[in-house]
Amino acid sequence: KNIVVLVSGGGTNLQRIIDCIKSGEIPNAKIAMVVADRECFGLDRAQNQGIPTQLIQRGKTFSAELKKILPENTDLIVLAGFLSILNKEFCESFPGKIINIHPALLPKFGGKGMWGHHVHKAVLAAEEKESGATVHYVTSGIDEGEIILQKSFEISDNETLESLSEKIHKIEYEIFPKAINKILRIPS
Ligand code: GRF
Repeated sequence: KNIVVLVSGGGTNLQRIIDCIKSGEIPNAKIAMVVADRECFGLDRAQNQGIPTQLIQRGKTFSAELKKILPENTDLIVLAGFLSILNKEFCESFPGKIINIHPALLPKFGGKGMWGHHVHKAVLAAEEKESGATVHYVTSGIDEGEIILQKSFEISDNETLESLSEKIHKIEYEIFPKAINKILRIPS
């Protein structure tokens, strides 16, 4: 199965997917290409592994350009810390084939502007009892696609932005490979 991963940042989730493919936790899969919408360490991670990379600068034409360069045999498009919004035309061209990971318990704390520390800040400000991570299908509505997997944990009294982010990343490393296997119909 051919996976294309989209990144904008440090790419620790990308690294986790790379490691899971190597270890066989995600079997029969390969990252055909990593695409970034800006210079970022995620691109370096891919290059270090000899994975083909592309940089398409973020902007109005991103989705159209991505569509042009996407390998024909792409089975799954994985957004792993990707900050651009894919347009409706693109999303509708690949129904059920695009997934994203979000650092909160959707449908809460999703939508425009809800990424990275903005999410954690909002969760703490709302004095939520729990948070977590969600893997979901990408549709043209931001963070609105069907949920594939979600895992939560209890927020402690002395939680900080950093501790929250760390706990959520750990959960992401657990549920992202599981969700990928589920979609590629690989039994766990
Ligand atoms: C993750 O927390 C993910 O939920 C969010 O962006 C972060 C990416 O982290 N969409 P990394 O680049 O994989 O380290």
